[in-house]
Formats: sequence, C-alpha cells, structure tokens
Amino acid sequence: GVDTLMRIPPSVLKQHRSKADAWSAFNGKVYNITAYFPFHPGGERELMRVAGRDGTDLFTSTHAWVNADFMLDSCLVGFLIPEPSTDS
Ligand code: HEM
Repeated sequence: GVDTLMRIPPSVLKQHRSKADAWSAFNGKVYNITAYFPFHPGGERELMRVAGRDGTDLFTSTHAWVNADFMLDSCLVGFLIPEPSTDS
C-alpha cells in the first residue's frame, strides 16, 4: 500500500543502476524496472539508459503515448524527491 512507499532522492536512485536492480523515475514516480526488461519492445539497452536516474525525458521523447503509470503499477517503489540539503 501507499504507506510502504519510499521517498527517494536522486542519490539513492543512482544506487540502483544494475540490470539486476534497476530503478528509474518517470513523472515523479520511482519504479523497479528489472522485471520489465525482457518485455520491453524497445529492448534492454534502451531501458538501461535510464537505470538509476530520471527517465522522464527519454521516455517522453520516444513514446509519450505509452501509459507507464498503468504498466508499471506493480513495480512502484516510491516517489522522487529533491536531494536533501547537506547544510547544517
Ligand atoms: C517501445 C514501454 C522506457 C525506447 C515501447 C513500447 C512500449 C514501451 C509499450 C511499444 C510502443 C508501441 O509500439 O506503440 C516502455 C516502458 C518503459 C519504457 C513501460 C519504462 C519502463 C523506454 C525508454 C526508452 C525506450 C527509457 C529510450 C531510452 C523505446 C523504443 C521503442 C519502445 C525505441 C520502439 C521499439 C520499436 O518499435 O522498434 N516501449 N518503454 N523505452 N521503447 Fe519503451
């Protein structure tokens, strides 16, 4: 449920950039896309380009008509948030 979802800054997203543990953000939502690799019509290599980072721009420029929100619903990990300030 929504209570188990995480708030994920870019630095944490970046730690999940291997094919076996690939997270990517689309429109503010972070998904674990590892299980989707074999099914992507555009291939694994294109998906790996967005592993560990915000894939919104690449996604939108290739297929803005695809409903990732619906397709990846069960892969939702949490929400992308700004990097917390390290100032003290
Ligand atoms: C094709 C889903 C991420 C590049 C497709 C198609 C779907 C899809 C459903 C078929 C679209 C159609 O035929 O109308 C997804 C999902 C993504 C994702 C759910 C997020 C996890 C990306 C990214 C890129 C990309 C980040 C580029 C870096 C492509 C390309 C095709 C394609 C080039 C065309 C393949 C072809 O027709 O030969 N994708 N995609 N996709 N995707 Fe993705």
